[in-house]
Amino acid sequence: MGAAGEQTRKASADDGRVLISAEQIQKRVGEMAAEIAADYPEGPLYLISILKGAFIFLADLSRAMKRPAVRIEFMGISSYGNEKTSSGQVKVTRDLDVNIEGQNVLIVEDIIDSGVTLTYLTRVLEQRHPKSLAIATLLDKPERRVRPVEVKYVGFRIPDKFVVGYGLDFAEDYRNLSDIRVLGEE
Ligand code: PRP
Repeated sequence: MGAAGEQTRKASADDGRVLISAEQIQKRVGEMAAEIAADYPEGPLYLISILKGAFIFLADLSRAMKRPAVRIEFMGISSYGNEKTSSGQVKVTRDLDVNIEGQNVLIVEDIIDSGVTLTYLTRVLEQRHPKSLAIATLLDKPERRVRPVEVKYVGFRIPDKFVVGYGLDFAEDYRNLSDIRVLGEE
């Protein structure tokens, strides 16, 4: 297929093998929300999500959380060069609108791979002196880790496969799928 053909190829909802079904995701997200709500019984809880991949997880997790004072914030992060490797340089491209000093903060991520993004982000946020700082991720690929990351809440540990759906993309496609699929496997 030529370049034009590749560009016009349409992502299909039937692409890929289902790794985690929509039902499994919703059940696990509900469990995580209950656990988090119980761990933070009082005061505002700031959910900080990194664009774009975590937006669906954030929406479902926050709605499943039975506590009123849930604050939703977004950050943008990008890496220099092509790859987020252990030597990769990361920078903030969109910062928070709020001061998190003295607040309970939970970073909400869709996936942790090398750990480079979260190592950088936790360092940036710790410098702002939150009352507490922890991480919740829907997916964790521990085999890929090059930087250790302490993760408090994990939805699913998955093998080192390229996954899409439920916010995760391939070339910006597939984010809208309600399940998580392995591309290239039927
Ligand atoms: C993904 C994911 C994390 C990061 C994890 O974002 O949302 O932010 O990669 O990888 P790491 O542990 O190796 O640092 P991505 O760069 O795919 O951007 P997107 O969320 O906009 O799709």
